[in-house]
Amino acid sequence: MKAALRGVKSSRAKALGVSVFVSGVVGCAGLFAFGGGVASAQSHYQSSSGKEVKSVTFTQPDRPPIVYQKPSSSLIPQGRTLFIENCSTCHGIDAVGSSRAPNLQGLGAATIDFWVYTGRMPLADPTVQAIQKPRKFNRQQTLAIAAYVSSLAPGGPAIPSVNVAGANISQGESLFSTNCAACHTITGVGDALANNVYAPSLYGVGATQIAEAIRTGPGNMPRFGNGTLSNAQVADVVKYVLYLQKPQDPGGISLGHVGPVTEGFVGILIGLGGLMLFGYWIGGRAQR
Ligand code: HEC
Ligand code: HEC
Repeated sequence: MKAALRGVKSSRAKALGVSVFVSGVVGCAGLFAFGGGVASAQSHYQSSSGKEVKSVTFTQPDRPPIVYQKPSSSLIPQGRTLFIENCSTCHGIDAVGSSRAPNLQGLGAATIDFWVYTGRMPLADPTVQAIQKPRKFNRQQTLAIAAYVSSLAPGGPAIPSVNVAGANISQGESLFSTNCAACHTITGVGDALANNVYAPSLYGVGATQIAEAIRTGPGNMPRFGNGTLSNAQVADVVKYVLYLQKPQDPGGISLGHVGPVTEGFVGILIGLGGLMLFGYWIGGRAQR
C-alpha cells in the first residue's frame, strides 16, 4: 500500500517535473520566438530601405509610387445605368445634386470610387454620417459608376494605384503619427471626434481606398494635397496602414498587436520566468 502510494507520489513528482521542464522549454522557445518577432519586425523595416533584403520587397524599383488612372471609358454605359438605378434619386440623373444630396460633378473618379467601394454609397438614410458598410457593387461595377460620373465634368484625381512594394514603412509610421493619428489614433482603431462625427477604424480598407481618402478628404477628414504629402509619402503612409492592419505575428501568438517592443518584453518575461522555474526545479532535485 505504502509502496503503491510512493509509486503514485513519485510518478506525480515526475509528471510535475516534466510539466515544469516543458514550461521551461516553452518559455525559452517563447523567448526565441518573440525575440525573432522583434528581429523580423526590424528587418521588415529595414527591407523597405532596400539595403538588407535582396529578394523580398524591392521588386519594382522603377515604378512610380502612385499612378492615377481613369477607369476605362468603355465602362461608361454600364455605369450610367447603375447610377440611374441606385444614385439618381438623391444625386440627380446628371449627378448635379438635389436638396437631398450634393453635386458630384467635377469630383473625379477617386472620390466616387472611395464612397462606393467602401460601402458608404448608396446611402439609405441621408441624415447620418455615411459609414463604411458592406459594399453593394463589385470592383467593375464601382469603376463603371466612377467612369460615368467622372465623364460628366473634368476635375478631381483619378484612381490611385499604389506601389506599396517600393514604399518606406518607417517613413510611413512617422508621417502617420504626425498627420493621421490625432483622429484615427496611433493604432488606427479610430476615435470619436466632436459633434457626433467619428474617425473610423482603418482596418477594413485597401491600399487604393486609403490613398483616395488621403487625396480626396471624405466628409470631415482634411484633404492632403501634393503640397502636404508627396505621392511617395502617401505610398509610405499606405504601406504603414496596411502593416497596422496585418502586423506579422512570427511568434505565432498575437498579443493584441501592441507592437514589437512590448512583444519582445513579454517574450523576455515568459522566457526568463520559464528559465527560473526550470532552475528552481533542477535545484530542488539536486537537494533530494
Ligand atoms: C439616399 C440618398 C442617397 C443615395 C441613394 C446616394 N447618395 Fe451619395 N450622398 C448622399 C448624401 C446625403 C451625401 C453627403 C453625405 C456625407 O457627407 O456624409 C452623399 C455623398 C456622396 C459622395 C461624396 C460627395 C462629396 O462631396 O464628397 C459621393 C461620391 C456619392 N455620394 C456618390 C453616390 C453614388 C455613386 C451613389 C449611388 C451608388 C449614391 N451616392 C447614392 C445621399 C445619397
Ligand atoms: C481631422 C481628423 C482626421 C485626420 C487628421 C485624418 N482623418 Fe481620416 N478620416 C477622418 C474622418 C472623420 C473620416 C470619415 C469620413 C466620413 O466617412 O465622412 C476618415 C476616414 C478615413 C478613411 C476611410 C476609412 C473607412 O472606413 O473607409 C481612411 C482610409 C482614412 N481616413 C485615412 C487617413 C489617413 C491615412 C490620414 C493621415 C494622412 C487621415 N485619415 C487623417 C478624420 C481624419
